[in-house]
Amino acid sequence: MAKILLLDDELTMVQMVTEFLRADGHEVLPFTSFNPAIEALESSAPDLVITDLYLDKTRAHGLEVLQKARSLNPPPTVIVITAFGSIDTAVEAMKTGAYDYLEKPLKLDGLKFCVQRALSYNNAVSENIYLRKQLKKKYQFNQIIGTSTKMQEVFKMIERVADSDSTILVLGGSGTGKELIAKALHYNSRRQFGPFVPVNCSALPENLLESELFGHRKGSFTGAITDKKGLFQEADGGTIFLDEIGTMPPVLQSRLLRVLQEREVRRVGDNIAVSVNVRVVAATNESLEKRIKEGTFREDLFYRLNVIPITLPELRERLDDIPLLVSHFLRDKTHPRTGSHYQITRQAMEALSSHDWPGNVRELENAIERAATLCEESTIQVTDLPPALRIHSENFSSDTVIETREGGPPQSMMVLSESLYPLRFSEIQQDSQVVQAAGEEKPVAALKDFLRNQEQGYLNRAMAQTGGDKEKAAELLGISLATLYRKLSEGEDG
Ligand SMILES: Nc1ncnc2c1ncn2[C@@H]1O[C@H](COP(=O)(O)OP(=O)(O)OP(=O)(O)O)[C@@H](O)[C@H]1O
Ligand SMILES: [Mg+2]
Repeated sequence: MAKILLLDDELTMVQMVTEFLRADGHEVLPFTSFNPAIEALESSAPDLVITDLYLDKTRAHGLEVLQKARSLNPPPTVIVITAFGSIDTAVEAMKTGAYDYLEKPLKLDGLKFCVQRALSYNNAVSENIYLRKQLKKKYQFNQIIGTSTKMQEVFKMIERVADSDSTILVLGGSGTGKELIAKALHYNSRRQFGPFVPVNCSALPENLLESELFGHRKGSFTGAITDKKGLFQEADGGTIFLDEIGTMPPVLQSRLLRVLQEREVRRVGDNIAVSVNVRVVAATNESLEKRIKEGTFREDLFYRLNVIPITLPELRERLDDIPLLVSHFLRDKTHPRTGSHYQITRQAMEALSSHDWPGNVRELENAIERAATLCEESTIQVTDLPPALRIHSENFSSDTVIETREGGPPQSMMVLSESLYPLRFSEIQQDSQVVQAAGEEKPVAALKDFLRNQEQGYLNRAMAQTGGDKEKAAELLGISLATLYRKLSEGEDG
């Protein structure tokens, strides 16, 4: 049954409705005055609010209750009670998000029906939010690969802050995945149904960037032939991603600071400020501290943006993640001629694992794309890799493997006994276990979840490939049917 907050200034009515709803099995929090009701609304998280619109003739308290309710997470459903003559306000309440209204004098069966409907609506909404969130989460976190300690820290941070409204500053070199993280933050927040609006601050000249961000009024400058909404307004209810924030011209930095402080925007050529509900995620691949010292970045804006910094590691700091990244980029690809999934030779994997990747994950992704296109059969070899990597790999040969133990490719590569590094579920799992066994300080639970997630992806792929034939899928994966059943049910549980 539900927790219902009730507010009306008529004591007898409050008593009657309270009794009636309690008899129906609900928990009721009855109030006859505004302030305590508002406090309880915040502290006791009711499922449903039933509020009178006017506690006295001068102030539409009900609308204030509604506004407060809408700002909560999750927002309770609100039913307003209208007296004769307040129907206009009731309409306004409906427009601003009330679920329904009831007219005075209240009829109890009307009330009962309305409450039932509101509660089943409530359930549907929360179920829907929950399911979609699960889906998005799976999808999104699957897209971000990394078992290294640094990436695990990033994942933990994202999970912790995604659902908040705090401003996030994503730091990291070119191609480290800043935009990917910004999207993960958005799609794992309750803003996920709202827009995600990316803005590249370095791509536009100062005057255009200003009107892009904040909009303009018709005639405010040559070329402003119509009114235009800015990107901040476009992002209302969602997330704006301010990429390459370090390059934002100082004049705009001041304006941005004001938007962050006041949560409202003013179009170019307009005096009226419009309030916006936008979460800001900013990113930069250069040092803002350096820009502050140079005098090209406002220090006060930096503090506003740097509420929660997330720093992405360079790929060269997490070379152990390369096999997983490679398998991720090749996972859904098949060779155009042979139609089979890709494999990669051990030497090629070693070359990939010893490059220093100035362009980070993007460079790796491009190298894999290129190799997949170039390779004649579906096995990627050193010769399919970009020249820079090939030069490096000339130092390797099958009998120098032992020497390279000291400074060369990561340990996890050493123990693979075959010269082929097949991108199959069982091998990847084996490899990851090796990574784990190497004794790095990794949070075991998180790694386990990560592996299970990866595993489920492979299981699903095998199931899809075999048209759902579990026996065939088990054979393909090189595991027993019983193991497959167990793993599939693990996926359903978690
Ligand atoms: N951890 C990761 N797992 C999987 N793919 C990744 C990861 N990090 C980055 N990528 C992929 O690498 C490419 C580059 O990532 P992204 O565009 O997010 O980088 P960026 O930091 O914004 O780069 P830039 O500074 O150049 O704008 C994208 O295709 C992205 O999907
Ligand atoms: Mg980017």
